Amino acid sequence: MKFIFITLFPEQIEAAGRHSMIKRGLDAGLLETECINPRDFSTDKHRSVDDTPFGGGVGMVLKPGPMVEAIRLAKQKLPDAPVIAMSPGGETFSQPLAEKWARSGQDLILVCGHYEGFDERVYHWVDAKVSIGDYVLTGGELPALIIMDAVSRFIPGVLGKLASAEEDSFATGLLEYPQYTRPVVFEGLEVPEVLRNGNHKLIARWRRKESLRATYLKRPDLLPQELSREDAGLLREIKEETEQNP
Ligand code: ADE
Repeated sequence: MKFIFITLFPEQIEAAGRHSMIKRGLDAGLLETECINPRDFSTDKHRSVDDTPFGGGVGMVLKPGPMVEAIRLAKQKLPDAPVIAMSPGGETFSQPLAEKWARSGQDLILVCGHYEGFDERVYHWVDAKVSIGDYVLTGGELPALIIMDAVSRFIPGVLGKLASAEEDSFATGLLEYPQYTRPVVFEGLEVPEVLRNGNHKLIARWRRKESLRATYLKRPDLLPQELSREDAGLLREIKEETEQNP
């Protein structure tokens, strides 16, 4: 899968490709990235890409010319890829959206903004605006990298073990159960006995219950409307335990 980043700061994008899973995906040819810098399409001698806003106000606005030329070049390279602009006012990015994009078989063109935002006319060349959350960042590079990271986890081979993306938080609809590794006792804190006794049925039950507990306590909005009989039973136990030991 290929990602084209339209960015004034390609070094920020390139740095992310030097580490961990993204590096592995790139090295294996499962992922490909390219940066197109709108500054290369600036027509004045200062290579400027921004200007003051009509109507007055603080901050600078990204001029349409260099942005649109950069998008045009990206579309020439990836004619079928949707053009996604990073914007705090866009649709909120989510795990289902990451999975949908990964499974679509399409490449992505990610447009990173800066300063006070794009000239509104740039959006005529954009298919969707996406936000990574209700806070404002200094630029779109981190959101675009977050999107690439979350999408890449669904590309078979990027995580190494195929199961990982399917099993993690949100994929099951619930938060993750706690995980432990050696030592059995760390600074007086012990790994739960059930995880050490090798009874796989009991381990599966414990994990399901702890997933339900984490979701019930931290993100009750994620609990499914209709629970299986087993889950309903586990949740009843969790509620009783919470009442006894709030
Ligand atoms: N640019 C600035 N803040 C952003 C956000 N929260 N999401 C996407 N793009 C942004």
